Amino acid sequence: MAEVFAAVAEERDAIATEPPVDVEARAASWNLDGTFVAVAGGDVVGSIHVQPNRHRFGDVGMAIVREWRSRGVGSALMEAAIAWARGHGLHKLCLGVFPHNAAGIALYRKYGFVDEGLRVKQIRRQSGELWDVLEMGLLL
Ligand SMILES: CC(C)(COP(=O)(O)OP(=O)(O)OC[C@H]1O[C@@H](n2cnc3c(N)ncnc32)[C@H](O)[C@@H]1OP(=O)(O)O)[C@@H](O)C(=O)NCCC(=O)NCCS
Repeated sequence: MAEVFAAVAEERDAIATEPPVDVEARAASWNLDGTFVAVAGGDVVGSIHVQPNRHRFGDVGMAIVREWRSRGVGSALMEAAIAWARGHGLHKLCLGVFPHNAAGIALYRKYGFVDEGLRVKQIRRQSGELWDVLEMGLLL
């Protein structure tokens, strides 16, 4: 999962983290509760994580290696995450997505997430650019 995360970070496009990613540290700190992986040929090709908080909503993060995108993996992971969140009594899932991430936004809308606001110039990229973040939420 940490290697997938590092590879997606290298793309500098879809997730806030940019290289370098300390893969060992990332792997050691990963909270496996609320995490689901997609596996192909014995390799992890994607994962999703739901991080519940004390207010009983969950923050969602996910990433899939480039070769496995737009083939239904994200949908399968999201279905697992929603079922897990419902089963753990959460009332809502939340996430932030860059407005140019068409695949991400399409996936989230497919599962009923709605736009909740735009955080303007929220993330400073290593390039110096300031990127907006679209906040989306799903009531369970
Ligand atoms: C965003 C991401 C998780 C989506 O997962 P995925 O496996 O590509 O999604 P799916 O194949 O399940 O597609 C989900 C829906 O999005 C649509 N979609 C997929 N790729 C798309 C694209 N490139 N552009 C527009 N819509 C797209 C599909 O049509 C599908 O809807 P449908 O089932 O009604 O046809 C994946 O592309 C990814 O990991 N991207 C890089 C990292 C990232 O963006 N992480 C999330 C940050 S918020």
